[in-house]
Amino acid sequence: MNKHICVLPGDGIGPEVAVQALHVLDVVGRKFGHTFTRQEAFIGGAAIDATGNPLPAETINACREADAVLLGAVGGPKWDNLPDNRPEAGLLGIRKELGLYANFRPAVLYPELAASCPLRPELTADGLDVFIVRELTGDVYFGQPAGREIRHNQRVAFNNMIYFEDEVRRIAHMAFKVAMGRKKRLCSVDKANVLEVSRLWREVVLETAAEYPEVELSHLYVDNAAMQLVVNPGQFDVIVTGNLFGDILSDEASVITGSIGMLPSASLGEHTALYEPIHGSAPDIAGQDLANPLATILSMAMLLRYSFALQAEAEAVERAVKQVLADGFRTGDIMGPGGKEKVGCTRMGELVAERI
Ligand code: IPM
Ligand code: MG
Repeated sequence: MNKHICVLPGDGIGPEVAVQALHVLDVVGRKFGHTFTRQEAFIGGAAIDATGNPLPAETINACREADAVLLGAVGGPKWDNLPDNRPEAGLLGIRKELGLYANFRPAVLYPELAASCPLRPELTADGLDVFIVRELTGDVYFGQPAGREIRHNQRVAFNNMIYFEDEVRRIAHMAFKVAMGRKKRLCSVDKANVLEVSRLWREVVLETAAEYPEVELSHLYVDNAAMQLVVNPGQFDVIVTGNLFGDILSDEASVITGSIGMLPSASLGEHTALYEPIHGSAPDIAGQDLANPLATILSMAMLLRYSFALQAEAEAVERAVKQVLADGFRTGDIMGPGGKEKVGCTRMGELVAERI
């Protein structure tokens, strides 16, 4: 197979973790006989520095022309005082430009990392294997009107939480399909006791459910869902939710797995799909070879699976990650009692690559 990947290293630890995922990809290519060509493009703060724009047109074109996109992370204190031109606008922009409405965030607690889980062991006795399906191109993230002005002599700022029924329906279909391939249990998370937009969300999810009679559907308010995730995370199979709630719940789920440095994601939609770790740019540890590259390496596994349908290759990467953990190697963020040797970002990437 011959495929072309667009790499958006971004800011902070983004470039270092991306390099390790690409190293693993090269080994997969050699072992399984594929050629993966690639091209880098600017996004986020790096793009602001190079071009003045967090999402230059060349980046959008390079992503559109590629077979898949790998992204590191964006953002950092250097650009925090640019309210109208933040690095994050690059990430939100590329999601919108590529129509990436479905964001898959699987959170799995590996037995090897049980000691890094902040919950008491009895709470995770059933493990944690939750697949969060987050809507990614709508909601209060993009709703108009949004802005800031002066009213009654004071500053006022506003955003609009809004969903069209078509947006809810397509993400619901996506989530039901994911559930069909898993334990056939789907929990839709909303705030229908308060928000009109959530009442529409729930209505449309219920309508869509008629097409998936085998899936057991439940609903939780987001406050309760946040609580259930820490008191009984084992109850969840697939969660589907809007953009904002999904952002929050996926960080919560990630930390239960031991570290936010472990969670990969896939963003799928109308054009090329994009893969990125859910963690941010971690400017405090950037450039020190301290970052955990596993979330990005696992994102690469998702890329192989979803964009290239290379199931065996994806599994080889995931197995290698498990093996490294079983062998006791840990980056600082996951260095708990189960760890035998603390390693840096580069070494961690090498250890995974060696096990492919
Ligand atoms: C995420 C991040 C982004 C989001 C930020 C960086 C814009 O937190 O991917 O979860 O809010 O979607
Ligand atoms: Mg987030």
